[in-house]
Amino acid sequence: MSPRYANLTLEFRGLAALITIDRPHALNALDTATLEELDDALSEAADHDDIRALILTGAGSKAFVAGADIAQMREFTVAEAEDFSLHGQSVLDGLSGFPAPVIAAVNGYALGGGTEIAVACDLILCSANAVFGQPEVGLGVIPGFGGTQRLTRLVGPMRAREIVFTGRRIPAAEAVQIGLALRVVEGDVVEAAMELATVIARQGPVAVRLAKRAINENADAALATALAAERTLFAHCFATNDQDEGMAAFLEKRKAVFRGA
Ligand code: CAA
Repeated sequence: MSPRYANLTLEFRGLAALITIDRPHALNALDTATLEELDDALSEAADHDDIRALILTGAGSKAFVAGADIAQMREFTVAEAEDFSLHGQSVLDGLSGFPAPVIAAVNGYALGGGTEIAVACDLILCSANAVFGQPEVGLGVIPGFGGTQRLTRLVGPMRAREIVFTGRRIPAAEAVQIGLALRVVEGDVVEAAMELATVIARQGPVAVRLAKRAINENADAALATALAAERTLFAHCFATNDQDEGMAAFLEKRKAVFRGA
């Protein structure tokens, strides 16, 4: 375990960073301390300019994240609940706004805050035993880490309503079918995420970061506004060495050697 963190590990593997949420006694549920550590780990990973992708997973094979910590939430006042929701939402905003692509490697239960944290990532790979869902209404509450919003944007309002109103569990294959996950992988989902990160790492690093911004920062914008943002970011690429190298390498029929600048 990284000495800095008690509830997660942060490792650097080649050009990828790997965060593993590790609270086995609570199936990796998110309490305040874990959210704080996740925030710190995201900052630490973002400080490494050469990171081309971040992978987020849960320790063990049973759970990715079993939700927000119910034991902590049990006695919340209204004000404490609002603070906790704000805290979770802002940490998950940090995943969505992380400079490089973030891949969720979902290995087991991803319920409540577990589905919410996965949906805040850019790409979701899952193992065959992954289970998604927003069971909050069964606890007498609603999703509070973005589940009523990001999920709705991902799978559409009708499906999101059904998922949230019933709290039912969504198996891996169905998650893929409804666009809640990218694909089910055979074998180790973290290794599959690492392979995907390796493919991303071969592309122009600045371009990948700008592409993420173009998609994520404009998801809710009007089309004309979003296209204007895309234009600006596209033009910005032409101030980079990566554009020069990428296009020269194509025309010279050789492999590009990107500097990430
Ligand atoms: N919070 C706190 N502790 C949790 C937890 C959670 N979300 N999920 C599991 N645990 C704990 C259990 O209390 C249990 O602890 P003990 O061993 O001390 O009893 C331990 O983890 C193992 O769990 P189970 O015995 O329940 O394991 P299981 O295999 O029978 O079931 C499970 C697994 C289906 C994931 C079940 O644990 C479960 O339903 N967990 C809760 C899922 C949930 O409702 N998540 C939503 C939380 S609310 C939320 O997330 C709100 C929000 O949006 C902000």
